[in-house]
Amino acid sequence: PLPMPFQVPLPLPPVLRPTEQASGVDRYELIQRETTAEILPGIATRVWTYDGIFPGPTIESRRGRTARVRHRNELPVPTAVHLHGGRTPPESDGYPTDLVLPSEWTDPHQDGHTGGPHGSHVHDPRAVVTRLTREYTFPLDQRAAMLWYHDHRMDYTGPAMWRGLAGMHIVRDDVEDGLDLPHGDHELPLMITDRAFDAAGQLAYPSLDPTLRDRPGVAEPYLAGVLGDVILVNGAPWPTHDADTGSYRLRLLNASNARHYDLQAVAEDGRTLPLIQIGADQGLLARPVNHTSLPIAPAERYDVVLDFAGLPIGSTVRILNRLGTGTTAHIMQFRIVRSAPASTPVPERLATDLPTWHRSEASVTRDLAFGVGRMGDRHGWLIDGRAFDPARTDVTIRLGDIEIWRLVADVHHPIHLHLVGFTVLSRGGHQPLPHDAGLKDTISLRPGESAEIITRFDGYRGRYLFHCHNAEHEDMGMMANLEIV
Ligand code: C2O
Ligand code: CU
Repeated sequence: PLPMPFQVPLPLPPVLRPTEQASGVDRYELIQRETTAEILPGIATRVWTYDGIFPGPTIESRRGRTARVRHRNELPVPTAVHLHGGRTPPESDGYPTDLVLPSEWTDPHQDGHTGGPHGSHVHDPRAVVTRLTREYTFPLDQRAAMLWYHDHRMDYTGPAMWRGLAGMHIVRDDVEDGLDLPHGDHELPLMITDRAFDAAGQLAYPSLDPTLRDRPGVAEPYLAGVLGDVILVNGAPWPTHDADTGSYRLRLLNASNARHYDLQAVAEDGRTLPLIQIGADQGLLARPVNHTSLPIAPAERYDVVLDFAGLPIGSTVRILNRLGTGTTAHIMQFRIVRSAPASTPVPERLATDLPTWHRSEASVTRDLAFGVGRMGDRHGWLIDGRAFDPARTDVTIRLGDIEIWRLVADVHHPIHLHLVGFTVLSRGGHQPLPHDAGLKDTISLRPGESAEIITRFDGYRGRYLFHCHNAEHEDMGMMANLEIV
């Protein structure tokens, strides 16, 4: 039986302590291991974790301070860690075949893309790298934003994330500090995921090979993506959180494999409270945008302020999912337990450092089509008719160039580019939607929809990815290489 909603307190993942801090570098260590977690009350569910918890510990960094994160893999299969939204050099970007191998791994299928960093890229002499560990370097020379880290292993990202390999990484900077936004216990990182459980209370995922070793993919009925009927926020089912009558900054992340949500905050008296969006995937907006509901696709983040001023003590505010039915229509609840002095209103002007790329600056316009197709003897998800091949360069870009990409989708596809943030120029031939504001790294294309995005490809030369962030689409072909030269 599923737990009653709004009973379990909202967990907040602990902030990871650096093992060492020196001259612009914070070092961290994470162990990837299997353990059990009490997700459903009274039941021990096997999970794959970063450091024994799901979500993994939150990493907090200052802009421009390098985070070096050493991962040790004690799981039974190889892994790859990607910092989603990070401006990361290619050798630390968690390319799906740059593996952190487990202690005993002798799978002939994996020959040719065995792990370990490309030796020539390891500049740090202290980087002790064995087959079991890998040190990732994140320079984080980028705007304050909530990034997240998750598994990105070739063919098996969906089941690995489903088992729990995801955590949040918050980057802060002086721009944000100058704005007096809700902070401390009034800032809540919220990782939303859906999960299905079997009769024994274990995570249910329709892998063709549950060992995640020999055969990728899911059974054909799950081609569109794997969904669950239990909504977890920070790993807890439909949690509740005690709040005061102040303003809260909600750092929303949809870390679900395939589920889309349309979030709405509804007070007990039936009133819809405004979700005041202050930031997008890649940081603060120029000005706040008010929403009555906010669609969020897999991998997207929204930074919103929710103000409980004037609500009666003892009343509740529910975060609902307008796209859900039954158990999936609820996300979490706030219970107003005490009054607080009125919060300062959200500033009219937020960030002033947003890029302003213009159409006329673009040197290339590319068309990319995302759709279903044949992949050998089964269905897969293709980009321009092709399934992912790590050995093929799909798009070659000159470092520093501004490009417009015209993306078109057959069904819902949240499209993510590694390395860069972009802005949305148009959607469906019209002006972008209100929630397209700001700097994004994932755009949710709706069925049959096209959109134009613009960005400058700068930072590093090398091989990066773009892909659909429906994890099952990604595992079943919908990924491609972009090479910055
Ligand atoms: Cu969130 Cu290529 O990933
Ligand atoms: Cu897709």
